[in-house]
Amino acid sequence: MKHFYLPMLVALTLLTIPLYAQKFEGLALTPPMGWNSWNTFACNVDEALIREMADAMVSSKLKDAGYTYIVIDDCWHGQRDSLGFIHPDPQRFPSGIKALSDYVHSKGLKFGIYSCAGDKTCGGKPGSRGHEYQDAITYAQWGVDYLKYDWCNNAGLNSVGSYTTMRDALFAAGRPIVFSLCEWGDTKAWEWAKDVGHLWRTTGDITDCFDCELNHGTWSSWGVMKIVEMRKDIRRYAGPGHWNDPDMMEVGRGMSLSEDRAHFSLWCMMAAPLIAGNDLRSIKKETVDVLTNKEMIAVDQDSLGIQGYRYDVKDSLEVWVKPLMKDDWAVCFLNRSSQSQKIDFDWSKNVVTDTLAHRTLNTNETVFTLRNLWTKKNVGSTKKNLQAVVPSHDVFVVRLGKK
Ligand code: GLA
Repeated sequence: MKHFYLPMLVALTLLTIPLYAQKFEGLALTPPMGWNSWNTFACNVDEALIREMADAMVSSKLKDAGYTYIVIDDCWHGQRDSLGFIHPDPQRFPSGIKALSDYVHSKGLKFGIYSCAGDKTCGGKPGSRGHEYQDAITYAQWGVDYLKYDWCNNAGLNSVGSYTTMRDALFAAGRPIVFSLCEWGDTKAWEWAKDVGHLWRTTGDITDCFDCELNHGTWSSWGVMKIVEMRKDIRRYAGPGHWNDPDMMEVGRGMSLSEDRAHFSLWCMMAAPLIAGNDLRSIKKETVDVLTNKEMIAVDQDSLGIQGYRYDVKDSLEVWVKPLMKDDWAVCFLNRSSQSQKIDFDWSKNVVTDTLAHRTLNTNETVFTLRNLWTKKNVGSTKKNLQAVVPSHDVFVVRLGKK
């Protein structure tokens, strides 16, 4: 017996040790939540700002609602030294990145940083090309928990190769780091990145308007609805540990409260990463209320990790659905028009079949209770038509639960 078990034990042990490079498993099992510097501060980042943002993440109660990562985007970089190791800008980050990450960790938060697969970042700072293993070791030593990895100045590199190299470098460095790919969907990361990273940008950059395109000459940035429209058929690629990322949020950065609410709700319906981009130090109460709506966040963070989808649209009134744990559903009515619209939704006539997730919402067989996720009130059941008025560019979101 002894002789039989020993080789088996050795074989089993070997099987559990990864012999090849891979991404870190077990991370980002729900869409990552946090804050990133780019949308508001672009290249104007320094250590005081990041510390203040970590403080504000706690005092604004965003941390309590689940926001965890504080990510410095582009432009923290100084130069590489004679051995090729990267250092932060000495004027902006005089205490060094390790001290900053220690500070963020001391607040019970996690720390993220940015680099690029090209030899320069989009902001013209040193990129990681040719220094991937060195940079990964540096990030691990600094206590980095999250890396956003951009795609500027890629000189025609093969994206699968570039991102896989950084994945392998991070794995070799040994510190579990969430790997956030940012190739803007140019090379359809969703088709190949499941084993490479934990999330991937699906589009170009977002901007703070509901439905505009901002033309910058050689490229455009996009309003919320433009981003939503751009990638309609990729929900099948999202799931625990590997998410479609429609970009950081513009909530609290100039859109109306209705639009912020609609934007946030759609990100939750799409199981998108919830990365705030506003200045948390001067956040208004109404913005806190949007970003910390726990019942809405629960839709985003639902452990099944099914990305919701647009089930129906009529006269600019859209109906989005998302299957949730315990056979619950979230249903979001979105009014894209410039006038208020009335909902009169007959549940019995709308049997929703999600062929991808193999789930059916049939209220003729099961009666569901309805909970309005923005007023946080119970609003009857699916026995009756749902009737409500949705203001322009706003949403009405209900969670359906069994009695
Ligand atoms: C690209 C990315 C943005 C941001 C900037 C930084 O445009 O898509 O999210 O990281 O680079 O320069």
